[in-house]
Amino acid sequence: MILLLQDVTRLKEVDRLKSEFVATASHELRTPLTGMTMSMGLLLETAQEKLSEPELELLQTAQDDIQRLRALVNDLLDLSKIESGKISLEITSVDVSLLIERALSTFKVQAQEQRVELTPVLPDELPLVRADANKITWVLTNLIANALRYTERGGRIEVKVSPRIDVIHISVRDNGAGIPVDYQSKIFDKFVQVETDKDVGGSGLGLAICKEIVKANNGSIWVESTPGEGSTFTFTLPVMSQFSPTGV
Ligand SMILES: Nc1ncnc2c1ncn2[C@@H]1O[C@H](COP(=O)(O)OP(=O)(O)OP(=O)(O)O)[C@@H](O)[C@H]1O
Ligand SMILES: [Mg+2]
Repeated sequence: MILLLQDVTRLKEVDRLKSEFVATASHELRTPLTGMTMSMGLLLETAQEKLSEPELELLQTAQDDIQRLRALVNDLLDLSKIESGKISLEITSVDVSLLIERALSTFKVQAQEQRVELTPVLPDELPLVRADANKITWVLTNLIANALRYTERGGRIEVKVSPRIDVIHISVRDNGAGIPVDYQSKIFDKFVQVETDKDVGGSGLGLAICKEIVKANNGSIWVESTPGEGSTFTFTLPVMSQFSPTGV
């Protein structure tokens, strides 16, 4: 038997410095980007009469690019905060069906436009869970946004809750493109996107953030998928203990 020991102190330090750099850089980038968005917005409002059609298009493209950059920078900042344990969670007793209702209403119009059926599947009775309601809504939103992005017109997306013994399972199932087997364990890592011919946008940070948020809420998240048939993303949340001495 061979026992191999490796000192990872230096690697951990490098990793910490890297995360710190990403956090500082994204924080510093946020302010000028907000300024640029505002200036562009004002410019677009006033430039309508003075500029030609191609010039206006250039401005519009620049504004769209700035928006994408802002979204990326915000995601990076969120992720580095969660990774470094600096995110503060507001854990309360949460009725998941309300969160699902909220998340589904956000996507109602988009789903109708894409002719995708978006349905909740909830049991009659559901135990309350211990979670940060806003952050879990964020996770749901990202999973549904992904499902919509990878499901063709006429497809189906189901958001289902199944209570188990100490946890509940929340899953978002689609009958879209599915995920190749060798990607299934990697897509929760930062910047990993399945390579395709089409540019579907996004930066590959959504699932990494979902994973960190679910972990911080004492849950776990995984995917089951058959390429060509669809994907099911499931995460768990702990059920409120009815016998907790503190009542929470
Ligand atoms: N429902 C799904 N069906 C098929 N592929 C998916 C699905 N959800 C995620 N993926 C794959 O996993 C990758 C990573 O997803 P993730 O949410 O992390 O990033 P993204 O959606 O590409 O970008 P972002 O969420 O940062 O805007 C996606 O690019 C896609 O290749
Ligand atoms: Mg995403």
